[in-house]
Amino acid sequence: MLWEPPVGVVVAEVVIVGGESEAGELVAMSIRALIEAKPNAVLGLATGSTPLPVYSALARSLAEEPLDVSQVHGFALDEYVGLPEGHPESYRAVITREVVGPLGLTPENIHVPNGATDTIQTAGADYEQAIAEAGGIDIQILGIGRTGHLGFNEPGSSFASTTRIKTLAEKTRVDNARFFDSPESVPMHCITQGLGTILRARHLVLLAFGEAKAGAIAAAVEGSISASQPGSAIQLHPHVTVLVDEAAASALTNLAYYRYAWANKPAWQAI
Ligand code: F6R
Repeated sequence: MLWEPPVGVVVAEVVIVGGESEAGELVAMSIRALIEAKPNAVLGLATGSTPLPVYSALARSLAEEPLDVSQVHGFALDEYVGLPEGHPESYRAVITREVVGPLGLTPENIHVPNGATDTIQTAGADYEQAIAEAGGIDIQILGIGRTGHLGFNEPGSSFASTTRIKTLAEKTRVDNARFFDSPESVPMHCITQGLGTILRARHLVLLAFGEAKAGAIAAAVEGSISASQPGSAIQLHPHVTVLVDEAAASALTNLAYYRYAWANKPAWQAI
């Protein structure tokens, strides 16, 4: 299936923020505005450390000024394959703990790819169907791996890929070992939304903090479009917001322009 761009806003921008909490506030306000305009908004939810400031800023905002989020739907980006049900580091458990609970979302509206081995052959197609039935993802929150992965689409992933099983890169297993006992305890396989799935979301919001992400961000934002750099898929999307701190922005060459464009952003234009 060939990728077709979502219809709507055309904005691609890089925002250099003072820190994680500033990024969290900006994205949370954007999600809040989306839910106000569309109470049954569909959120694409990343896990890992990067999006946590977004979820906590949104939880704070909802506590201070409540909003009906009962019809909001959420789709996680990915899940490990083969973890026992209820494992605290399964992304189902993480999403429940970090997102569903703090935001007060309706648990039945929250989907995570099914990493159970007995149904794994059909889990990808089932997930794609569930996204389509919900009307597609309105805003997709993304982190990026040091390998350049979006979701768990490691280098070499097709830009047309849909939800399927992937093998995690060794570097990714080392990075994610902080949530497990050792790199060997990190599952070898995962089920992830494909790059094609991600590109169909209406708005991509990519966040990255810290120097370890500088190379992956430079490749994603300014590098050649290549399956060897999965992050570069964002260059094909018409509505992308990249929020980076100074360290994650440090390998970008066009920094002066990004700062200038943000400082002169039209008042009417949201992120
Ligand atoms: C998480 C995901 C990954 C992470 C990436 C960065 O659902 O799909 O792409 O966003 O590995 O992880 P952190 O944020 O922990 O550095």
